[in-house]
Amino acid sequence: ALLHEENPFWTHLEVLESVTSTNTELVSRTRAGEARPGTVLVAEEQTAGRGRLGRAWSAPAKSGLFFSVLLRPHAPAERWGWIPLLAGVAAAGALARTAGVDTGLKWPNDILATGADEERKIGGILAERVDGEHVVLGIGLNVTLREEELPVPTAGSLALAGAQGTDRDPILRAVLRAFEDWYGRWTAADGDPASSDVLEAYAAGCVTLGRSVRAMLPGGEELLGEAVAVDGDGRLVIASEQGVQRPVAAGDIVHLRP
Ligand code: BTN
Repeated sequence: ALLHEENPFWTHLEVLESVTSTNTELVSRTRAGEARPGTVLVAEEQTAGRGRLGRAWSAPAKSGLFFSVLLRPHAPAERWGWIPLLAGVAAAGALARTAGVDTGLKWPNDILATGADEERKIGGILAERVDGEHVVLGIGLNVTLREEELPVPTAGSLALAGAQGTDRDPILRAVLRAFEDWYGRWTAADGDPASSDVLEAYAAGCVTLGRSVRAMLPGGEELLGEAVAVDGDGRLVIASEQGVQRPVAAGDIVHLRP
């Protein structure tokens, strides 16, 4: 039972053998009025998985957890940008507890396995607003992926990071529970990241902070500096060598030095 009867936050869970993308599927069901908030769509295989910034997310069938949930947030829409960030906090924490792997977050919401001398991306999050009311939140986690199956050399998996257990069901359950918990706190605080402790938890888990970074902004601009903070809007604040601080709302970050 993945849905806990005593607290029906998750209203419907469905496992699909193969789908283009759980996000795409849940977005179209939502548009068609065919999905309730609290729906969880899990796929054994995605044939056209999608990542942030228009990228593809591909992984062999059953090598990980690929799922999307439908939310109808009761917090002001200008704070919805926190949803993927708090999902990162929830997933990183749940993986650390259930699989015994050290995890961290690379801004905005890459989930990393953090070893003694390397960091590898083991998960990603893609949140999409469907209409004025709904958000589809997709999470992809590499669970049993082997070295020769890694899409890029900087990727990893729970198994490669030495996880204690790689059964996907308990991991999914733990991630959903942790998400429900953080999302509940955030909602109760009307989406305020500070009073719900989401901001503090995010900053504590974000390994980008304090690092030298190169940011590729959506317009093509490149920014070099030190990542000094995450602000109340979830933006990464980058300080240049001259001390000029700039908040970055979206983009691709490269960690330059440990
Ligand atoms: C990223 O790191 O760029 C985000 C990756 C998000 C992947 C997940 S897998 C389940 C859901 N369906 C998709 O097509 N994408 C997300």
